[in-house]
Amino acid sequence: MTKGATTVRHRLSDLLASPERAVRGLTAVLAVAVLSLGACAPAEDAGGGGDGAAVNFPDGWEYPPSEALTTSASGGMVVTTDSLASAAGREMLRAGGNAVDAAIAVQFALAVVHPAAGNIGGGGFMVVRTGGDSTASLDFREEAPGAATGDMYLDEQGEATDASWTGPRASGVPGAVSGMRKAHEKYGSLPWKRLLQPAIRFAEGIVMDREMHDNIDGETDRLTQFPASAAKWLPADGEPVAVGDTFRQPHMARTLRAIASTGGEAFYTGWIADSLVAQMERSGGIITHEDLSAYEAVWREPIEAEYRGYRLVSMPPPSSGGVTIAEILNITESFGLDTLGYHSADHVHVAVEAMRRAYGDRNYYLGDPDFEEMPLEMLTSQPYADSLAASIRMDTVSASSDFNKVPLESTETTHFSVVDSAGNAVAITTTVNGYFGSAVTVRGAGFVMNNEMNDFAVNPGQPNAFGLVQGEVNAIEPGKRMLSSMSPTIVVNPEGRTELVTGTPGGATIITTVYQQISNHVDYGLDVGTAVNAPRFHHQNLPNEVEYEQNGLADSVVAELESRGHEMIEEDGFSGDVESIFIAPDGTLVGAADPRRGGSALGIDFGGGG
Ligand code: DON
Repeated sequence: MTKGATTVRHRLSDLLASPERAVRGLTAVLAVAVLSLGACAPAEDAGGGGDGAAVNFPDGWEYPPSEALTTSASGGMVVTTDSLASAAGREMLRAGGNAVDAAIAVQFALAVVHPAAGNIGGGGFMVVRTGGDSTASLDFREEAPGAATGDMYLDEQGEATDASWTGPRASGVPGAVSGMRKAHEKYGSLPWKRLLQPAIRFAEGIVMDREMHDNIDGETDRLTQFPASAAKWLPADGEPVAVGDTFRQPHMARTLRAIASTGGEAFYTGWIADSLVAQMERSGGIITHEDLSAYEAVWREPIEAEYRGYRLVSMPPPSSGGVTIAEILNITESFGLDTLGYHSADHVHVAVEAMRRAYGDRNYYLGDPDFEEMPLEMLTSQPYADSLAASIRMDTVSASSDFNKVPLESTETTHFSVVDSAGNAVAITTTVNGYFGSAVTVRGAGFVMNNEMNDFAVNPGQPNAFGLVQGEVNAIEPGKRMLSSMSPTIVVNPEGRTELVTGTPGGATIITTVYQQISNHVDYGLDVGTAVNAPRFHHQNLPNEVEYEQNGLADSVVAELESRGHEMIEEDGFSGDVESIFIAPDGTLVGAADPRRGGSALGIDFGGGG
């Protein structure tokens, strides 16, 4: 949870500044103002999820249910971590575009307004369910360069070095531009060029806000190591542009214009590719022209699983998200979570024991499907889950070692959800991995490169940056895609209607956070705002501990879980940044942006207003 935890939040005063951020400030303020006029109702009023069952959160919990801030609309909804990115998506819906058009505009906008995670130098995953019930998932995950080797991050003593985290060798071949291009080819309705317009505008100048400033500031030590990064991100005598001043990204604007005018070709074979390869050669990286021109995003069959009559549609490998969430849900099914009190010791115990078992499998079995055979049918089957459930004892913990199959040797991501008036739903989680990825900026092209290579089992059997202990199946090989936890997910209700679109960043905690959104909705009937605000907990088998958000569980529950043998770790802050959309039976779209990082839900009503 370390990399996913955050306490950074928007302050309204920071949003109310000049040029493009004035738009950002305005949209944030408008959403609040309209809320008080009743056009955007709190989730309970809008029927925002399940039956709106009441829950009590512990004393001291930061985000009480009554303060769940949701936005309702009839004709489209965009929920992202950033109000400018949400505005970019809404601009496409207003222009007559569909949910995929809006999502593509958001992906490019986030690369400019939320560069710690939004990207063109990284990758991600998209899950789509159209209004007509066809589903698809797109893998635009980075892949290992052709010159990568299994031991490229090990020193002479066989210990992992920092090179998979910081610097040019930390990057996989970026997939975001190819992914957006593929998504547009299959589903796009607006011209490609139109989709990049908001991002280009933002690159020409936005107001530096507190969050972006602090994100850059927090990575100063890494960014100063690379001249093009220092020049772009720390231009004010080694400091970021001051909060409230205009932040211009001219190189990024030029890059985006080239992507717009060449349909993305410039990125993989044109001058952007030249700049990227030159950057690699200058600083000791290994990505080549051949790696770039060979890269292609891939359509894959989504993982689908049934849970209590609902259908989960989520991401297959090389994301571990869909399989692991399905396994957790299946293991818990026979316990009837709805009969256990919400966040009671019994509820947390069962969920944690299911997480432990599912992560044990995740770490051992899952990798890139183009390289590895994986028993996906077994892992997502109910009989297999039942056999694992049978070993759960209510009075005591199980041993992590019983479920770890990996032989042991001695953040930043963002999610967004979009639904349009035709019922097309899109969930995208995208990342450069750590904040500002590898900290390397491509000179002259203005974007940061990912540090996704750290998601491989750099040293199988030893923990990565997220503490995940993974096996040979996820070892580095040329051209292979590293295993991810990103879990963009769509939940279909028993009547066959899309009901929830959700996802989050948070490294290894992504899976358990998305699982809890589904359980909050299906098992406990929480409205979507309350489900997002609810405290989260996490277990990933190794390390053998339950992490929970600050003040997120009642003292008595923590004590009871400790008495059953759980190691309980209270976080310093909060975990994840969920952006969800609930579709009510009458078709009302309820967007819920996570208050933990000050996200933004913007809707339009039929006729284009809102
Ligand atoms: O793909 C993954 O699982 C990781 N690269 C995600 C990293 C992440 O969520 C960091 N953000 N908080």
